[in-house]
Amino acid sequence: MNNQTIELINNRKSIRVFEQKSIEQDIKEKILDATLRSPSAGNMMMYSIIEVEDQDIKNKLVTTCDNQPFIAKSPWVLVYIADYSRWFNFFEAYNCKNISKNNELLLPKEADFIMAINDTMIAAQTTVIAAESFGIGSCYIGDIIENFEIHKEMFNLPKYTYPITMLCLGYPTVAQKERKQTIRYDKKHIVFKNKYEMRTKENFEDMYSNEHYKNIQYLKNAENFAQHMYIKKYMSDFTEEMRRSIKEALKDWK
Ligand SMILES: Cc1cc2nc3c(=O)[nH]c(=O)nc-3n(C[C@H](O)[C@H](O)[C@H](O)COP(=O)(O)O)c2cc1C
Repeated sequence: MNNQTIELINNRKSIRVFEQKSIEQDIKEKILDATLRSPSAGNMMMYSIIEVEDQDIKNKLVTTCDNQPFIAKSPWVLVYIADYSRWFNFFEAYNCKNISKNNELLLPKEADFIMAINDTMIAAQTTVIAAESFGIGSCYIGDIIENFEIHKEMFNLPKYTYPITMLCLGYPTVAQKERKQTIRYDKKHIVFKNKYEMRTKENFEDMYSNEHYKNIQYLKNAENFAQHMYIKKYMSDFTEEMRRSIKEALKDWK
């Protein structure tokens, strides 16, 4: 069964080193047009996208996104903003408060934030796949959710917006193209029928039985892969900063 879309998806990998060649404007437009065709809750398109063209801003993002130098060398950097501000302004501009209880405009809440995040992430992934179809590689930068206050000022973000993800895009170098793909858990550990199933230690043994996990150099103080990941992704400074940043931002949505 030959299916080019499935092949494209199955062969994708994150790209972090790019040819120093810019992406043609007409290709960028095609990718952005495809992005805007993403499904969206209530077709509200609760996101905005900021193209970072200014090299000084890219350089600053290296530091504010947990010291990732490849951001500065990425030909195309897109920041995806979960955006309820546009709808809020629209409601405000057209006197929606007149039809509210006590004539007070209802404010966006946590649920609206989550719906906006859904829309935003779906749009970002559409960009990834559309870019891939032109041979353009990409890498998400999740650390954009850190340093909320700095990014807010950097991008002039109003209330009810949050930079939820960032993509670095460009043509991959030959070495990146040839790099091995990352591993995934087997489908049986991820896809259930009808009900959720708690994983047992036996499941974990099976999940991590691949040779790949035996060759990992654990971080200092870690005795096994669980401890290695716990230290790396759960106890680190960037995790602490992500938690602080999101907690701070959520105050606007209550
Ligand atoms: C939400 C999200 C955040 C990510 N953040 C980063 C990041 O900050 N830096 C980075 O180098 N890769 C980041 N990645 C890429 C992942 O590390 C990558 O997708 C994962 O290791 C699997 O590799 P693959 O995409 O090559 O299959 C992120 C991916 C996602 C989905």
